[in-house]
Amino acid sequence: MVDALLAVAASDRAAAVEAVAAAAVAAPGDRLPAALLRYLRADADGDVYRSPDALTRFIDGGSNRALYAALHTALRARYEQMAPGSLLDLGCGDGRVVVAVAGSGLRRIDLVEPSAALLDLAVAALAGGPAVVAGHAVTAAAFLAGLGADDHWDVVQSTFALHTLAAADRAAVLRALVARADRVLIAEFDVPSFDDRRDEHAAYAVDRYEQGLREYDGDEVVAQGFLMPVLVGQFDPGTVRHTHEQSAATWVDELRDAGFGTVTVHPLYPYWWADAVLLEATR
Ligand SMILES: C[S@@+](CC[C@H](N)C(=O)[O-])C[C@H]1O[C@@H](n2cnc3c(N)ncnc32)[C@H](O)[C@@H]1O
Repeated sequence: MVDALLAVAASDRAAAVEAVAAAAVAAPGDRLPAALLRYLRADADGDVYRSPDALTRFIDGGSNRALYAALHTALRARYEQMAPGSLLDLGCGDGRVVVAVAGSGLRRIDLVEPSAALLDLAVAALAGGPAVVAGHAVTAAAFLAGLGADDHWDVVQSTFALHTLAAADRAAVLRALVARADRVLIAEFDVPSFDDRRDEHAAYAVDRYEQGLREYDGDEVVAQGFLMPVLVGQFDPGTVRHTHEQSAATWVDELRDAGFGTVTVHPLYPYWWADAVLLEATR
């Protein structure tokens, strides 16, 4: 399976299919060879966020339930202390996190989400609440680049969304955030540092995705519509990449480099892909 991912990284789909097919025969009980073989043979376009179905089923299932419960508890505790009046959520998805954690004191909520279908769900989920809600169907970088001099929020949150940014965009987004918020809360995965798309990365992904697939046994929408495109996107230079992940220590360094004076890391949940953490940054 490691050879298969390295073949994907070398843009050699034929060799990848051959290696996965051999792994499927050698380990018929494993979930990953069968799922990856099906995905590679289907030659899908890999855009996981265009339609909400696969993402929402993924978050609704497996250990995401416990992960999101831990996330909600941690954010609610911060917001009870801070009592923010305004909140910006970058990459809000279907809005489930902001709905779960928004206190009644929020007067203004801005939602940034490039998938129009997901943004519609998020805006609808907050409709009728006490806050004025504005949805922005753009990327985080485009939204921040278009702000006026006085635009500012009490808190900016981004949950499992900033890893969608490539390194160059990420640095610019983190720099832009320093002047925009009193406090920034970022939920991310503490993924070990390894050389991108090399042996160690592939071995880690093979081990972890086998675990992840087992949490969704029999759910083809999640396996083929979310997990396999995210995995292949990590390795295939010719397809859309949804994850540019890194260690919590690197997130801390990048937030400090961007201009945040205090950055703390709180453990959230031991997730199958990597430990989830909450990064808290202030100027
Ligand atoms: C794993 S989902 C997390 C969604 C939500 N924050 C949650 O915790 O349920 C990642 C989200 O980031 C969004 N996204 C992708 N690229 C983005 C970008 N450049 N700027 C902002 N959000 C982005 C995706 O559309 C998706 O909704």
